[in-house]
Order: sequence, then structure tokens, then C-alpha cells
Amino acid sequence: MSDKKTFYITTPIYYVNDKPHIGHAYTSITGDVLARYHRMKGDQVFFLMGVDENSQKNVEAFEKSGCETLEQYLGIQAAIWQQAWDSINITNDGFIRTTEERHKIGVYKFFDLVNKKGDIYKGLYKGYYCNGCEEFIKQSDLLDGEICAMHKKKVETIEEENYFFSASKYKDALLAHIEKNPDFIQPISRRNEVVNYIKDHFGDVSISRHFQVAKCGIPLPIDPDHAIYVWFDALINYLTGIGYGTDDEAFDVLWPASMHIVGKDILKFHCALWPAMLMSAGLPLPEKVFAHGFFTIDGDRIGKSLGNAIDPVELSRTYGVDTVRYFLMREIPFGEDGDFSFERLKERYESDLAKGLGNFASRVLTLAEKVDEKSLDDITGLDDEEAQQMIVNAWEQYAIGIEKVALDDVLKTVWECLRWGDKYIEQNKPWALAKEDPEHFAQTMVLLLEVLRHISAMVYPFLPETAEKLWKLLDIESLERSHSSAQLIKWIPGAVTKPTKGVPLFPPIEQP
Ligand code: MSP
Repeated sequence: MSDKKTFYITTPIYYVNDKPHIGHAYTSITGDVLARYHRMKGDQVFFLMGVDENSQKNVEAFEKSGCETLEQYLGIQAAIWQQAWDSINITNDGFIRTTEERHKIGVYKFFDLVNKKGDIYKGLYKGYYCNGCEEFIKQSDLLDGEICAMHKKKVETIEEENYFFSASKYKDALLAHIEKNPDFIQPISRRNEVVNYIKDHFGDVSISRHFQVAKCGIPLPIDPDHAIYVWFDALINYLTGIGYGTDDEAFDVLWPASMHIVGKDILKFHCALWPAMLMSAGLPLPEKVFAHGFFTIDGDRIGKSLGNAIDPVELSRTYGVDTVRYFLMREIPFGEDGDFSFERLKERYESDLAKGLGNFASRVLTLAEKVDEKSLDDITGLDDEEAQQMIVNAWEQYAIGIEKVALDDVLKTVWECLRWGDKYIEQNKPWALAKEDPEHFAQTMVLLLEVLRHISAMVYPFLPETAEKLWKLLDIESLERSHSSAQLIKWIPGAVTKPTKGVPLFPPIEQP
């Protein structure tokens, strides 16, 4: 693990026209796992989340909501989203709402720079607009000449005077940046998609809509009859959420972002429009944009209209927060799409959590309770080279997986440690040693407790509640509070001296 450094990570700011579903939770948990890992490693972390409020979708939802004002509706919805994240143990350090004054101040500062650069002009927009995407769409991207490929809905035909951002000026610089920084777009498999998009489709972007159609949004400073178009406004949250325009000192420490986590649906905004905007404003680009795949439910796209959205908060109430976090992180192979089904969730609970982690922890802790307390820190004669090597290798693989955001691979690595531990128990039969050779028994348990201590740290970013429970049973302090990275990955046999058996970590689930 490297020296302490700043790690600024973001998720998209979500539209608040509905409550969060497991697709949103997937992005948020991914961000949280990375934030928790970097905090555990000792980095100075800032994890930003928020909500995208200046959107027509929200206005439409407000009109059906029964709320008296849009502000009231947005306030209620913003709280619902933040509370949802709290209840699944997401540890975001900041939460930005795009109707906040601090956001508006930053947007104006940013707009001013882009405008002074000569990159804003007025023009006539004629074309197609999809309300679902909140985006102007090219005819070549439509199905049957009129249907949005993403939302499968008829697009609107629009002709209006708008302000444009001269994004095409930055086409070559963008391509050069992507070429020079192979890590900028992750996973690599998505890089070509973006490069082709920039080469073939990326042009100047309309960044305003007349208030008569927009109904909400930040007024354009140079023409207050226009609202700033949602993406130009929304992307700037990554700056305003850390003090751009309001707290320069904080901003300077954190920008550029270490990573934007996004779904594959909005990758091009983050790898084309956003860097072009930053280039125009003279700001450094984020280090990485990571785009993950999508969850379907029993094979179908998740959608309000399909009525199949699963609420992560309710799901966690039934199955436990850590179960939901584990399942979402384990089920989708790195960068690909995956499917959610209750069957798979229950299977993974049984096999990976109850029979895997829960069983291993309970075997080790039950046996360890039988060791005479004084012998547990006696490591003389301990033959632990293989175990130590296994753990060192696992941490190396772990760090590689985190770096690539291959979080399912990281979990596979942890579960290999568990399997190693189970095999060690089978081969060394500590229950027999307890009777025949108390000294060897104590040494065997010192080794297994140390393996379990490492596993508890490894699962922490993914399963924070389980890790806390394990630390109590192992009688060690919370890693987050007390450990530096060096201690964390160090092999310290004898670190655990007062283990207790406790109750099963993953008891049978009571079905609703
Ligand atoms: N408001 C914009 C983002 C602006 S960021 C400057 C937006 N909001 S959204 O509410 O539609 O959220 C989209 C994001 O939610 C996706 O990029 C992805 O991170 C997440 N997901 C939504 N549905 C999902 C799945 N079915 N599966 C996985 N992630 C999903 O776009």
C-alpha cells in the first residue's frame, strides 16, 4: 500500500423523481467500498454523492406528487435519497443538491470562464430530444427514425434558439488525452466505444433551454430567459460539491478527482463533454472515469414503467445490509452486466456468507475459546510461513483488484483465504490437538486467528457490519479508527489474545 494521499471519489448525482433502486445502490456501494478501502489504507478520502435536481423529470414527478412547491418536493426527495444511503451504510463525506446556492455560485464561476474563453455562442437547435435521457439525440441514433434506443419511447421534435458550448474545439485534445492516459477510461474494454463516439459523433453541445420549456434550472447568466441545460449544470457538481467558487482552499486540496464512478449509460458525458468543459475552463481533468455494467432483474431492464424496481432499503431489512452489499458486489463480473434474482441472493447468502465466512469464523472462534488464554500470544515454534505467504499474496491481489475496480475479483481473493483456512483446519484437526497436544493446539489457533483477523480487515469495505462484529469477537479495535496501513497488512501472530465465540454471523433468514 502506498503513502497517504488524497482520494476524491464521486458517484453520479441521481435524479430524484423516484426512490433509489438496486441499480443506483450498485453504483453507490461500489463508491463506498473504494472510499472505505482508501480510508482504511490511511488516505485522506472525500466521497461525494448528491442529487440532480434541475431536471424536467423531477418537475413532472412534483406535479403528480401533491406537494405544494417544487422546493418542498425536492427537499423531501433529497432526504429520502440520503437516508437510503445511510441505511445501507454508505459513508459519503459530502452530499450536493444542485438547487443549493453553493452550486449556483460555482456554476456561474465556471460558466464565466468558458464564456470568456469564447466557447459559448447562440444558435438554432433543430432536432430530437429524449425526455428520459434529458439529451438531444441524433437521428442516426434513433430506432425507426423516432424512438430513443435507451428508453424505447418516441422522442420530441424540437426547434429552438439555444446557447451552445463549442465542445468540438476540444475533440483533438480529448483524443490525445485518452491516448496519453491509458487509465483515464476504465475498464479498458470501454475505451474504444468512447474514442469512436468522440471521432464520429462529438460536436458542439446545446447547453441551455428556454425557461418556457425547461420549467426549472439555473438561469443562464448572459440570458436569464434561459436555463442551463441539465448536463452542463449537473457535471459541475463534482467541483461545487468540494468548494469550487465557495471554498477554494478545500477545492484545491481535492481536485482533480481520483475517480468518477458512473454507469455505462452516462460514460460519454463523463469522458467527452465533461473533460471538454474542464479544458475550456482551464481546470485539470479527473484521473479516472470508471463505468460499470448494469443490473437487470430476472433478465429485464430495471424501470419505473416496468414496475420491477427493488428498493435496496427494504431488501436490506429482510436480508441484512451486508448481504445486499455482498451480493451486488460479488454478482456482476468486472465491467459487465449482471442479473438480480432472489434465488441467486439466497444461494449466495447460504453458500458464501453462512457456510463460507460465517462458518469459518465460528469454527475458529469456537476452537480458540478452548485455548488457555496465556498461550494465545505465545508464538515460539509457530510454523506459519505458508499462511503468512498466502496472506501477503492475497493482499497483493486485493490491491490489484481494487485498483482495477474488479471488486468481484477482490471478493474471490478473500474467499480463497477462507478456503485456505478451512483446508488448514481439516488437515490439522485442531479439535484432536486440543486433547493430544495443547501446545501445538495453541499454535494452530494463533495462526488461524491471525488469518481470521486479516479476513476481517479484507471484508471490511464490503461488509462493514460483519467486520465490526468480528472485531468485537476478536477483541480488537475498529481498524478504521486504530490501524495504519502498515499494521493492517502485517502478519502479527499473537495479535488476538481474547477471542469469544459469539453468535452466528449469518443466521437463517426469516422470510417475509
Ligand atoms: N443525473 C444523471 C447523472 C448526472 S452525473 C453528473 C443520471 N441520473 S440517474 O438517476 O439516471 O442515475 C444514473 C446512474 O444510476 C447510472 O449511471 C448508474 O450509475 C446507476 N444505475 C441506474 N440504473 C442502473 C442499473 N440498472 N444497474 C446499475 N446501475 C444503474 O443519469
